Amino acid sequence: MSANKATLELRPECGPIGSEIAGIDLSAPLDGDTFNEIEVALWRYAVVVIRDSNLMPAQLAAFSRRFGRPQVNVRAEATNAETPEVFWISNITEDGKPVGSHDAGRYWHSDLCYLETPSKMTLLNAIEVPERDGETFGDTQFASATAAYDALPDDMKARLDGLTAANGYRYMWNKKAREFGLRPVLTEEELQKYPPDAVHPIVRKHPVTDRKCLFVCEGYTHRIVNLPEAESDTLLQELFAHLANPAFHYRHKWRVGDLLMWDNCAVQHKATNDYELPLRRLMQRCTIEGPVLA
Ligand code: SIN
Repeated sequence: MSANKATLELRPECGPIGSEIAGIDLSAPLDGDTFNEIEVALWRYAVVVIRDSNLMPAQLAAFSRRFGRPQVNVRAEATNAETPEVFWISNITEDGKPVGSHDAGRYWHSDLCYLETPSKMTLLNAIEVPERDGETFGDTQFASATAAYDALPDDMKARLDGLTAANGYRYMWNKKAREFGLRPVLTEEELQKYPPDAVHPIVRKHPVTDRKCLFVCEGYTHRIVNLPEAESDTLLQELFAHLANPAFHYRHKWRVGDLLMWDNCAVQHKATNDYELPLRRLMQRCTIEGPVLA
């Protein structure tokens, strides 16, 4: 099959982030120039979608690999057996076993922020989208971490300069377990099999655009290093509330076949839990390792 040289058509959303890329057929091989244009669009719009991409897990993994090194999620029971870099997100249970993570993305976050090398980008492909009477549910919401940083008052920017914070998978595990009841609360000993906290700057500089981005994640960031606990808690709550301001947001309404890609430095995201069985949601995801950012 010859390489697919597409004419890209960008259809930006009206807010600070988000664009559709038309004119791409991911079932055919993609030439290097077209691939580069997709990457450029991703860094420019931070969230981009290619419609009608009905990919098998191996195809999603192969396309993802072109962006860098895929990450295998620590939650092994939700990864795909043949291509473990593909992670399943779903509310479906088959033969008594969840087919993927049932409570993924319930808080504002940036993917795999709990690792030393968090995700540079994510690819999320919709296989089943909850729908009733023509209305779809389970949107993914995005917040521009760049616009949120830019909008901070100068004294807050100065205060955040040089601060770092701890991001914890173990912290997130029991927070979700207690709040949503879809995973067991684990003891300290049981939590040891998951990665320890990763400390990252609260403000990171984007490796491509050079813009400053806010990097505190409601679901994972639990302690600002070198601040007394009460001051750390108050400042974190203030920053989480700031990121939740709809002025910085884009909300993606899913269609089956959407391949949504986002830049985990420039945006944070959150799943919308507004549906339940018999409405089904099935998504496959790949994340790509990013650099350690200052
Ligand atoms: C995620 O947090 O990566 C998943 C978001 C979603 O399922 O909407």
